[in-house]
Amino acid sequence: MTQQYQNYIAGDWRDAHSGERFERENPATGEPTGSYPRSAPEDVRDAACAATDAAKKWRATPAPKRGEILFRAAETLVREKERFARELTEEMGKVLPEARGDIQEAIDMTYYMAGEGRRMFGQTTPSELPDKFAMSVRAPVGVVGCITPWNFPMAIPSWKIMPALVTGNTVVFKPSQYAPKSAWNLVNALHDAGLPPGVLNMVFGEGAEVGAAVVEHPAIDLISFTGSNAVGRTIAKQCADLGKPVSLEMGGKNAILIMDDAAIPLALDGVVWSAFGTTGQRCTAASRVVVQSGVYDAFAERLVARAERLRLGNGLDATTDVGPIVNTDQLRKVDSYMAVGRDEGATLACGGATTNVGELGRGHFFQPTVFTDATATMRIAQEEIFGPVTALIKVDSLEEAIEVNNGVPYGLSTSIYTKDVNAAFRAIEGIDTGLVYVNAGTIGAEIHLPFGGTRGTGNGHREAGTAALETFTEWKTVYIDYSGRLQKAQIDD
Ligand code: UN1
Repeated sequence: MTQQYQNYIAGDWRDAHSGERFERENPATGEPTGSYPRSAPEDVRDAACAATDAAKKWRATPAPKRGEILFRAAETLVREKERFARELTEEMGKVLPEARGDIQEAIDMTYYMAGEGRRMFGQTTPSELPDKFAMSVRAPVGVVGCITPWNFPMAIPSWKIMPALVTGNTVVFKPSQYAPKSAWNLVNALHDAGLPPGVLNMVFGEGAEVGAAVVEHPAIDLISFTGSNAVGRTIAKQCADLGKPVSLEMGGKNAILIMDDAAIPLALDGVVWSAFGTTGQRCTAASRVVVQSGVYDAFAERLVARAERLRLGNGLDATTDVGPIVNTDQLRKVDSYMAVGRDEGATLACGGATTNVGELGRGHFFQPTVFTDATATMRIAQEEIFGPVTALIKVDSLEEAIEVNNGVPYGLSTSIYTKDVNAAFRAIEGIDTGLVYVNAGTIGAEIHLPFGGTRGTGNGHREAGTAALETFTEWKTVYIDYSGRLQKAQIDD
């Protein structure tokens, strides 16, 4: 029988009040990977109450002690990395080496944030008045609602949960229904590490029901969301009405710019990895390749040859380059862009179809796809597809490449391949995205630097690094006057 998992509320493992369940299936084989509670707003209510009850004691726990629990959880992730990676591949499809990377990203983040327990720096600064001391310290926001996607099902939850916990918040966590086991593994590691009951709570279920209830619950003070732009905007509107701070990370339409002087073999490796790694299902994926006219034809030809050689298959097979698409809705969406691209006049140079050959017939597979002759304003060059599809756009100059790069509704990641240091610095300056890579692909951000983007990608916040602390803490500015008399700022000399 399929293993049954439960919600985690107030330190207990519990079914949904309704008793209802859903099953997750392996997108490569159709086999069940686990059964989970199909929760409802009443389950979110329990989680929010538990998080509220636990808040006072947790915020009074010294931050280094909070950090120690994270350290212990990280050690479990290290020990169980291989098992967690396989389970991650089985539930959402990415190839095993990338699944290991997903777990490793969570390990890195957990250690990093554990260390914040002994940093969490504020400022001390002179006062303008004598015998007066000024400083700023960080305080937790309260109860944090974390809503996460399936494409980095262990890494992205760790980006939110670890900084939230170490800074003294309690958490209600709603993971994606397409990758629930990875969420369970992460939460269980924190449970085993000795996290007190109620400090972290997890409610499984669908976004429309459970995610919406997390956003709306009055005891939840802050929302951190990663997912689509459409859902993110809806959450932002609701949070505006409710007066809740909200941090959004909502995808990208990332480009790799290839200049005439680029090292072409290196650029090819970067494009293949960034466009087709994780089956294109990263918000940092390169779904546009902007190529200068001098190398355009040769580059297109070599890219198509490389894409045609990629092997589709089960992510657990060592010979697989590209795993399945996460579910049938996504598969249909990716497929629908084939007609869109052709109708707009782009050339479908390779791929372009679902595939059912042999074993692949059991899963949701789509061929690695390259459109050539795309133009900057086509829908395939403007909209996030979230699949193994990339579009080549020809430009004449660096200036035009930067303009094309910036001319989309998103602003997450850009890369430029050039050997000209002046061109690289001009690009760094002109590119309007949160991440910029020189002579590397658009994917693979490291956890100790800010992660996030401009325009439709975000709402001004950054995850990871010390930037994450800005989201999960409030500044408390403290003045201590030890003069023993009334001193008036801005008035007394
Ligand atoms: C995402 O796709 O939402 O930089 C996150 C990267 C990974 C994270 C991607 N470290 O590609």
